[in-house]
Formats: sequence, structure tokens, C-alpha cells
Amino acid sequence: MKCQKHLFNLKENIHYLNCAYKAPLLKSCEEACIKALIKDRNPSDIIPDDFFNVTKEVRGYFAEIINSSPNNIAIIPSTSYGFSSVLNNIEGKKNGNAITIQDEFPSGYFSIKRWCDENSNELLIINPDQDQKLIGENWNDNLINQINQQTSIVLISSVHWMNGIRFDLEKIGQKCKEVGAKLIVDGTQSVGAQKMDVNKYNISALICASYKWLFGPNSVALAYISDDFEQGKPLEESWMNRVNSNNFSALTNYEDTYQPNAAKYNVGESSNLILMPMLRESLKQIIKWNPTEIETYCKTLIQPLVIYLESLGVAFEKEKYFSNHLFALQLPVHIDMDLLKNNLIKNNIFTSIRGSYLRVSVNVFNDEKDILKLIKVIRQTS
Ligand SMILES: Cc1ncc(COP(=O)(O)O)c(C=O)c1O
Repeated sequence: MKCQKHLFNLKENIHYLNCAYKAPLLKSCEEACIKALIKDRNPSDIIPDDFFNVTKEVRGYFAEIINSSPNNIAIIPSTSYGFSSVLNNIEGKKNGNAITIQDEFPSGYFSIKRWCDENSNELLIINPDQDQKLIGENWNDNLINQINQQTSIVLISSVHWMNGIRFDLEKIGQKCKEVGAKLIVDGTQSVGAQKMDVNKYNISALICASYKWLFGPNSVALAYISDDFEQGKPLEESWMNRVNSNNFSALTNYEDTYQPNAAKYNVGESSNLILMPMLRESLKQIIKWNPTEIETYCKTLIQPLVIYLESLGVAFEKEKYFSNHLFALQLPVHIDMDLLKNNLIKNNIFTSIRGSYLRVSVNVFNDEKDILKLIKVIRQTS
């Protein structure tokens, strides 16, 4: 794959290495948004099918990206909404526990903490070994070793939002299956930029905000909700989530039956006539690119940076635990982080400070110039 910058409206003098914060808007999404706004001028142009057809396509495209069925996809407004939707339908084991990882993103942490408080389960937070330079392998081992018959839920991110450490979902999912625990995954920082397979990993629910690696708009997220939740109750009662809701003249027949599978977990007004056409375009583009190809592109792109930093003695995680699209620079101690931060800003390089990490995240709109500029600034700050 070649650099895809031409599909975006990025400024030429900016080095945007921060897709983990928010993705830039694709030109195709911008166009879809404008077209949708113009259509919204005249409600007479909006037909009942418009409330259902685009969401149907969105569910189908997302299902394709994560190897699921469209029936198992729900449209939600945020990750926290998705966590609550599924957690509300999980009963805790007696004297049980739930597991998450150190510094999990707050929406996941607060959701699982509340569930533990309300279900008299203990919350276990798994750390990596403190004395190790490389943490990916021992953090994964520590997590897997904690999962046992008492575990009700494991709620983790597929890729850690601060440092890009990758969790071995296949092994974790297998262990959850053996002990009868539900695996809930926050895929916000990986889905779209790495391969995802909810069936292979035995995932009960996968929740993803759309405005990062899925190139979607804010205020829309997507959830895979497995058949484990077929009998569950949604958070709210939207008219759209009942069968025959597309028959606008018969809505007060008050159907008892929900739409099948995960559709009952769709947020009210899931048809969002502006944001859904945007998300449809971005998901279509991701399928066209293919997440495995995106990952390969990112891997090749960052090689000069990896080689340069290794020459300074910086150690990188094993491939299995490393994300090519999102990683934290553990720079040598002689580099003044505050000075580096200032120099990055002066040179129009956009990264993020997360905790004590300098987080770099790349995607298909980045090119060699972005990486060479970053290397130059680190070199000048050394
Ligand atoms: C792992 C992870 N989950 C969730 C979010 C945010 O999700 P939302 O905006 O839907 O609350 C972020 C944002 O940085 C994130 O990194």
C-alpha cells in the first residue's frame, strides 16, 4: 500500500502522529456529511427506509471488519454506553471477581468497577512486572494466570491506549472459555488498524469508539454483542428497536418483540441521518484498505524510527505484544521530555503525552517525511 494522504484534507506542514487521539476526516466522509446535511434541508425527501438502510449497511461493514454477523452489531453513542449495555446483563459468580488491567481507559475502568460494586465481586487489576524494561509478555502472563473459576468477567482493551501493548486475545479468550468467564474487549485502539476476529477470540462483547482507527465521527461507537446476550435487556426502550418499526403508520400497535439479536441494543435515534452516512463511508474505506494491509504499512513506515531508537539503546516489545500503529517511546534518560515536548510542538509534530509515555501513533495518511522529521527532532533534543 502507498501513502493515502490524498484521501484526506490534512495540512501539508503538519506531522500528525496522533491517530490514537482522533483520526482526521476522510474526504469521502466529509462529502457524505455535506450531502446528508443538504438532504436534511427538506424532510419531504426523507423516507422511512432512510431510518433503517444506512444503519443496516454500517452494521454489515463493521461485521465484516471483525468477522461477525451483522445481526450481532449494535450502534451505540460511546464506549461507556456499550459497556453498560452488556454489563447490566451479566450476573456475578458467588465470591467471584472481575479482571482488568492497570491504567485501563477510564470508561472501561469505571464501568467494571461499578459492576463489581453492584454485584459483590472483587475487582482485580493486573500490573506488568515492575522491574522489567519490556512488559508485554509478563503482563499478558500475569493476566492469564489470574483468570480462574472465580472469574466472572475479564474487561480489557485489545491494545493499551497509553503504550500500545497488545493483549493476546486468543489465549485470554481460551482461558475465559475454560472457566466460564465473559470476555469484554475495548477495541477502540486496535480495530481498523489490526486484524480482529471476535469468533476466534471467543469475545462476548467488543466495544469500539469510531473516531480513531475506524475514521468515523464523534458520538458514534459500534458494539459486537454475542448471542450470550440474546435474552438480555437493553438500557432503554427505543421505538426503532421493535419488530415492524419501519411501518410508521402502525407504531402504536406496541409490538412486544424486539428486533432480533443485537439490534435491541441500538441506541435510540441510531439512524442518525448525518453521522451514519459518514461512518458508512469510513468503514467501506477500511474494508477496501484491509486492516492487515494497514498494519503492514505502519510497520514499514516506522522502521527508520525503530532502527534509530535501537541504536540509542531503546528496547522494543516482541512483535506479538507490539502495535505498529501505536506505541510509546521509552527514550534514554538524558533526553529532557519537557524540552522534547516543546521541540515537537515547534516543529508541528503532533503526538500525545499519556502518563509518563510519549505516545506516537501512525496510520495510512502518514509518510516517510513525518517519521524522518520526528527522528530529526529527537536527535536535536539529545
Ligand atoms: C481504549 C479507549 N476506549 C475508549 C475511548 C473513548 O471512548 P468514548 O469517547 O466512546 O468514551 C478511548 C479514547 O481515547 C480509548 O483510548
